Amino acid sequence: MYENPKLLLDPSKPIEPGQFTWRSPSNLAIVKYWGKYDVQLPKNPSLSLTLAASCTDTMLEFTQIENTSGQIQLDFFFHQEENEAFRARTLRFLEQLRPIFPFLQQLHLSIHSGNSFPHSAGIASSASSMSALALCLCSLEDALFGTLSDPKAFDQKASYLARLGSGSACRSIFSHAAIWGLTNAVPGSSDEYAVPFGDELHDQFKNFHDDILIVSSDEKAVSSSVGHALMDGNPFAEPRYAQARARLTTLIDAMKSGDLETFGKIAEDEALALHALMMCSNPSYMLMKPGTLAIIEKVRQYRADSGNPVYFSLDAGPNIHLLYPGDIIHEVRAFIDDQLLEHCENQYVQQDWVGEGPEEM
Ligand code: DP6
Repeated sequence: MYENPKLLLDPSKPIEPGQFTWRSPSNLAIVKYWGKYDVQLPKNPSLSLTLAASCTDTMLEFTQIENTSGQIQLDFFFHQEENEAFRARTLRFLEQLRPIFPFLQQLHLSIHSGNSFPHSAGIASSASSMSALALCLCSLEDALFGTLSDPKAFDQKASYLARLGSGSACRSIFSHAAIWGLTNAVPGSSDEYAVPFGDELHDQFKNFHDDILIVSSDEKAVSSSVGHALMDGNPFAEPRYAQARARLTTLIDAMKSGDLETFGKIAEDEALALHALMMCSNPSYMLMKPGTLAIIEKVRQYRADSGNPVYFSLDAGPNIHLLYPGDIIHEVRAFIDDQLLEHCENQYVQQDWVGEGPEEM
């Protein structure tokens, strides 16, 4: 939808070298995206909280090159070191964007990227890294052509580009919360990009915490892209997509009105549905570990005993996201220290919370 052959530099008007830096966060889906078609188009709509502490900083430097060979020229540094694997992956992504950004082949690009969380912690970085890169590319387009001065148009295009890199990344563009995927519940929603949901969110959720309990940082046995693909032969796929659509509608109402109980029930049911789908895939697989189950049981017991609204979520991995409102942080942190740390690898917890979204540095 964004193809534009006119976005080419005029070789007779050389441009100054420049750079853009964006810090972009990860996000946690409450209703999950699991199953896709074409290039990361979701089989069902999803809703996520935008995080604050788990971020990627990406700097994109550009210089004009005189004789274009038709190749996109790219260097990639991750935490100050050249990284060939990331370079190759990013180059494939940029190649895919050529019809949208034909000017990329007229530039030499250097990317310096780094995460705010330990690389080895087992926290997925595709959402933060792809969204940070997408934002840099939109800043570049606007600087060269002045075509993205409208903030809404800028965010929408950044979300669209981020999605092409990694589906869930399209939701990281917006503050507090975002909805991705066509749904009757949200006018203007789309499979192609996410839309903001932060403005409609009840204040309860703007002060929410998500402490990520690292049960294992081992590389996953089955990647998310393989997991999505396995949904195609999954006998529960269609009922699952219907379930997600129905839950999204209920969740939207709960998050507008501040209904914590409904929010928490959907968050936990979605996490378990995601992992149930993995167990029902062919071949079947399991990403939860004994520590994951131990924590889930303790969270449910703690909630029953204390009455505190503390809920768990899971991504496609063994680590637990502990969700709770900020006003009970001291009690919950004590609970984590007393009962949950023993299940965490190196007792590591990545503390996070709902945030304001990406910022240009
Ligand atoms: C379980 O966005 O990582 O985190 O589109 O193939 O890059 P690709 O997959 P990805 O899948 C994320 C799945 C999830 C749920 C979610 O974030 O909605």
